[in-house]
Amino acid sequence: MRDSVTVSAPGKLMLLGEHAVVYGRPCLVTAVGQRMRATVAWTREEALELTAKDVRIEGYSKPLRELGQGEIPKGAGFVELAVRNFAKEHALERGVRVETVSEFSSQFGFGSSSASTVSVIKALAELCGLSLDERAIFNLAYKTVLDVQGKGSGFDVAAATFGGTLRYIVGGKELVPIDVPDLPLIVGYTGIKADTVTLIDAVKKKAERYPAVIEAIYSEIGNIVEGATTALRRKDWGALGQWMDFNQGYLESLGVSGEKLARMIHAARDAGAWGAKLSGAGKGDCMIALSDQEHASAVKQAITQVGGEVVDVAVHAPGVRVE
Ligand code: PMV
Repeated sequence: MRDSVTVSAPGKLMLLGEHAVVYGRPCLVTAVGQRMRATVAWTREEALELTAKDVRIEGYSKPLRELGQGEIPKGAGFVELAVRNFAKEHALERGVRVETVSEFSSQFGFGSSSASTVSVIKALAELCGLSLDERAIFNLAYKTVLDVQGKGSGFDVAAATFGGTLRYIVGGKELVPIDVPDLPLIVGYTGIKADTVTLIDAVKKKAERYPAVIEAIYSEIGNIVEGATTALRRKDWGALGQWMDFNQGYLESLGVSGEKLARMIHAARDAGAWGAKLSGAGKGDCMIALSDQEHASAVKQAITQVGGEVVDVAVHAPGVRVE
């Protein structure tokens, strides 16, 4: 048995299909080069000791038998429940010290919570000498995310676990890799923090009021993702850009775009991008644009000019791995 293990998992960017993916339609997601790192070591105490400076957790400690109970600080929830769920399934005979360190700001919405959940579960498995396959890690991490936030498709958990670029259906019903390491993506950060759960709830409310319209929008987004999947497989970036623009239109209809996002998206298109849309829950976080080399610097400049911050990030990054 090892004394200590360090594991890392990538963040994610939703390419197409957000919101509709929560209701059974497919989405496309890519893993990003900025990673979450978790180091897990045995301790003498029968407790979880956690340090996660990115979310202002330092020296947090809780007895193993009390995990998931009582007060849980916001930044500790995913790791605490990951350890509890792992212990329930695989037994954890001793206490563990966990430290998570993020390479990216949790502000970008790159999925730091899911990446830390996945890396902690993988690290615990390695520490215990268990060979959990990726599917088992995904299942346990997705259960943990649902335990903490009650909703979500798990696309971020899939990206953190499997890496690369995936076509994904809720709960991992479909998990198909698409080989596009050369996806010519530009990422712009709005500077606005988006809250995923609040936005899922807002769309749900709209669906209760206008069920037929929202259901039709989900179906159309599903059709768009079908078209985009073909374009992605063929590396037909012009077509993929068009599918992104269509998708953005429906996200506007769902009410999850925003003024800053829209400005950045239009600026990117006007500067010659093949297409642009918001990425993730909406209202803030990041937008993405697809552009050829020739227009890339103009697109980046246009995004910056309207107040966005271009985030240099690799796509199609490898999934969870021992460091
Ligand atoms: O805000 P993000 O990046 O976690 O994206 C949310 C995407 C949704 O489809 C709205 C929710 C989900 O879990 O799929």
